[in-house]
Amino acid sequence: MDYVKLGNTGTKISKLILGTMQFGWRVSEEESFQVMDKALELGINCFDTADIYSSWGENSYPGKSEEIIGKWMKDRGVRDEIVLATKLLGKMSEDINDKGLSRRHVRQAISGSLKRLQTDWIDLYQIHSFDVDTPIEETLHALNVLIDNGEVNYIGASNIQPWKFIESLWRSESLGLQRFETFQPPYNLARRYLVEHSFVDIHQKYNIGIIPYSPLGGGFLTGRYKKGEVLPDTPRNKGVVSRYFKERNWIVLDRLMEIAKNHDITLTQVALAWVLSREFINAPIIGANSIDQLVENVGALDVKLTNDELSSLTSLSDWIDSYESIR
Ligand SMILES: NC(=O)c1ccc[n+]([C@@H]2O[C@H](COP(=O)([O-])OP(=O)(O)OC[C@H]3O[C@@H](n4cnc5c(N)ncnc54)[C@H](OP(=O)(O)O)[C@@H]3O)[C@@H](O)[C@H]2O)c1
Repeated sequence: MDYVKLGNTGTKISKLILGTMQFGWRVSEEESFQVMDKALELGINCFDTADIYSSWGENSYPGKSEEIIGKWMKDRGVRDEIVLATKLLGKMSEDINDKGLSRRHVRQAISGSLKRLQTDWIDLYQIHSFDVDTPIEETLHALNVLIDNGEVNYIGASNIQPWKFIESLWRSESLGLQRFETFQPPYNLARRYLVEHSFVDIHQKYNIGIIPYSPLGGGFLTGRYKKGEVLPDTPRNKGVVSRYFKERNWIVLDRLMEIAKNHDITLTQVALAWVLSREFINAPIIGANSIDQLVENVGALDVKLTNDELSSLTSLSDWIDSYESIR
């Protein structure tokens, strides 16, 4: 396993981060334990979750993913080995204040996450998106108190507009506060706009760690979908079809297939290897849901694509026309 600095901080993380958004919902507790055991065995030391995971599915609820990770860390006695990242913002209950980024909710959210994760500290505490009702200064002050208390080591942000991210950096500087050290956007061959339009420049200027989610487009870039295919009408399929079923992406998939054949590897590994090759990416967050998926995805670290292969993928998936609005 390769290790990199988490952004500009002194903490080292594995070059792949384990995502846990499906734990307790599409992945049972037992399977989640198996995936985490294997991840640690393969050298993955950084896990990403959120208080709101996994609030989908029949037997799930917000906080279940954190609960499973907490039980696993305790059972295996490995808390000290894990660089633990979680997030706050989402609606945790019907209480009007049990969401957002107010000082009140920041205190409530950390207390819930620490309890569920059975730990005294979070390594990376991220705002899941922006809260239009709360001034950024209030949130930054509240998060900084957590750092001062030793409950949080670093803070980061996800899914916010570039200008808001920069505003938060400047407010941190002018107020003498710790700043967001990482940014968590979507990023893959079919979804490059947000990162490449703005965050590459922000990363270069401010040395922010970009730790993207959905490096496989939530499964689209594994080759499991076929052009013209009519899929069952599930919420997941609707999302994949509206976001990814576009002419340019089928062309990218064809090229991925050719490259995979040349190297005798899987299309998934080529798609991940391309993300890993982007020099501004700190470490992608993979959503492996089984040991087999995890082993295959970690194999992408050993894939060496030629410059021609990489540049053909980069030009076929050109981000310029792929504008998408940001929450
Ligand atoms: N900040 C945010 O707003 C945000 C949003 C989304 C995700 N995230 C984080 O990022 C993590 C990853 O996101 P993601 O799930 O969208 O990532 P992804 O890696 O793009 O997609 C993961 C999905 O791809 C399929 N997959 C993964 N490896 C595979 C393999 N080797 N072969 C075939 N299929 C494979 C699995 O689908 P099946 O299970 O159907 O097989 C899995 O659910 C999440 O767990 C979460 O921690 C953050």
